[in-house]
Amino acid sequence: MKIPPVKGTRDFYPQDMAVRNWIIDGWKRASLRNGFEEYDGPIFEYLKMFQIKSGDEIAEQLFSLTDRGGRELALRPEITPTLARMVNQRISSLPRPIKWFSVPRLFRAERPQKGRLREFFQWNVDIIGVDDVLADAETIFCALDYLREVGLTPADIVVKISSRKMLAALLQTIGIAEDKLEDLYVVLDKRSKLPSETFEQMLAGNLNDENKCKRILELMGVGSVKRVGSVVELTKQAKESVDELSRLFELLDVMGVGDYCIFDIGIVRGLAYYTGIVYEIYDKAGCLRAIGGGGRYDNLLKLFGGPSIPATGFGIGDCILAILLEEKGLLQKQLPKPELDYFVACVDESYKEAAVKVAMKLRSAGWTASFSYKSAKLSKQLKEASDQNAKKCIIIGEELKAGQIVLKDMDTGRQELCDYGKFLAELECK
Ligand code: HAM
Repeated sequence: MKIPPVKGTRDFYPQDMAVRNWIIDGWKRASLRNGFEEYDGPIFEYLKMFQIKSGDEIAEQLFSLTDRGGRELALRPEITPTLARMVNQRISSLPRPIKWFSVPRLFRAERPQKGRLREFFQWNVDIIGVDDVLADAETIFCALDYLREVGLTPADIVVKISSRKMLAALLQTIGIAEDKLEDLYVVLDKRSKLPSETFEQMLAGNLNDENKCKRILELMGVGSVKRVGSVVELTKQAKESVDELSRLFELLDVMGVGDYCIFDIGIVRGLAYYTGIVYEIYDKAGCLRAIGGGGRYDNLLKLFGGPSIPATGFGIGDCILAILLEEKGLLQKQLPKPELDYFVACVDESYKEAAVKVAMKLRSAGWTASFSYKSAKLSKQLKEASDQNAKKCIIIGEELKAGQIVLKDMDTGRQELCDYGKFLAELECK
């Protein structure tokens, strides 16, 4: 019986690995050029760590285990709690602002579907210690810096931005008590994922008040930051948050990525720890689930037993991103093709050992080199060389007795006779 992979996991055959590496290399490059340093943590943590303020949805999706000492552990479904724990641990010695990134492998026991798996990679970029909307703008820029680099334009993707602080103030004006907000956010977060009728039923069930329901639906229809005040009267806190949002859009314009960004009051985020600016990145056609999301979480470090330190950041997964890049024709053409510097062929078996020796010398000098395992004709070996995208082919034959080898340029097809000793001496020049 052949054993299949576990539901919701992926096998990475070399071709898949090439895609994964290309995506992750791009994430790392973008992080570094935006001034972020890499960190990582353990793949499993205490279970209770993921139950602090992450929200019920993620807590229900945990892969948990009990170790032999009876400790309750869980595979990490996200890295933000680990980040909060790690920063708190060294809070007095870490220079601020903390600008860190990570590419963790994450686990969520979700129902597997298009772009949603049980094991995936997620690019995380976070700034800790800056209570300025400029930090939110910088993280959004960093995400777009990468997405733009791989060829996604404002016609392909959109960053939908809102503010939980603003929404909280508006909902309180409508008459929602502060302690009811969190449950309501869970419902509002579902708005774009459910048919409108189902959403409205859920909302009615949560509020039990027709008038409040009507006012919230009206609020959810507001299309611009400027119009928010025309639907619900702005309190001082609401006004401050509206101003902060407007400033964020100005900054994104200054940074040159404003045309990717829109206001969307319906963005609430599924995780419970967000406190301010929140955003999600989607494909423009709206056919796929979110490519990524993030926002400000100013209370998380305190909730993890540390001081009150502001924080903001995002996570982008590899699954939806790869689907979108493939759909847009941006994946295959950008993948680096495996290339070989040298293929070493021999005219017959008697020169095989000499060919292997040359190949190993090339490798020791830092070049990629290969040879054939088969005792095939030269023409077949040359075919193998071209199948492997070899730039040059060395042919070992009778000439070796006179201290010479044949060097063939695989692009032009030109062959030349070289002095073997001189060739070896020049190898070191890579
Ligand atoms: P999140 O919205 O839960 O945020 O996940 C961010 C992204 O990770 C999603 O938009 C999606 O691309 C990817 N993702 C999530 N679950 C899955 C899954 N089951 N399969 C494939 N991809 C998935 C967070 O995780 C926050 N901790 C991000 C953050 C960092 N906020 C602040 N800093």
